Amino acid sequence: MRTKLAAGNWKMNGISAALAEIDALKIDFGAPGVEILVCPPATLVDRLSQRVQGSPVMVGGQDCHENETGAHTGDISARMLHDAGASHVIVGHSERRADHHETDAMVRAKTEAAIAADLVAVVCLGESEAERDAGETLAVIGRQLAGSLPDSATAATVVIAYEPIWAIGTGRTPTLDQIAEVHGYLRAELVRRFGAEGDAMRLLYGGSVKPANAAEIFAVPDVDGALVGGASLKAADFGGIIRALEQA
Ligand code: 13P
Repeated sequence: MRTKLAAGNWKMNGISAALAEIDALKIDFGAPGVEILVCPPATLVDRLSQRVQGSPVMVGGQDCHENETGAHTGDISARMLHDAGASHVIVGHSERRADHHETDAMVRAKTEAAIAADLVAVVCLGESEAERDAGETLAVIGRQLAGSLPDSATAATVVIAYEPIWAIGTGRTPTLDQIAEVHGYLRAELVRRFGAEGDAMRLLYGGSVKPANAAEIFAVPDVDGALVGGASLKAADFGGIIRALEQA
């Protein structure tokens, strides 16, 4: 049995006042077998980590640099996130691959840096709408998976998030069959490369997950949780998604 994971990605949203949204989650949740992760902007990692201490809520960064220190103005290392109280970091989100021209090789280096700093890396993959329309989805996903994961990846150090780019922030989601096809393919590729570790790695779905569609998505085989953007900003919505995962 894989431990389920409900992960929230706040993206570039949230100032101090937003921290209070998490207080309800600390009290309402904590079922065994379901982990809760919130990835606020880097400015809030330290304060959120202090605020959730002793609760089931874990805290993650949204990106890290591949180096531990150095002349990289504006960047943050995995070690710094860990020092600020983070246990996880998202790497390779499609918005970073697009906005910051991150390649699979860069994502792999960041994943290695995260593992070296004792962070769990949440490695994101996903096809564009044009790639899906061209029938290239599995080829794209397979290439990203192969290129973004280091050989050192284990079920304890890496989580994979499948986020079709066209489903992010659009209110559109793939059909359940489409999710099942990609997750089944990812599982087979992970087992082929990593054996039993690959079978134990968590696979999250991300892209327009909300309380209303969470239960049906969590019922898809090989969906071990979700990476949630917009709906993670409000405790009521994120709580509804966590509840659906607890009941899955
Ligand atoms: P939305 O849930 O807002 O579609 O965002 C998904 C996402 O990109 C999470 O990383």
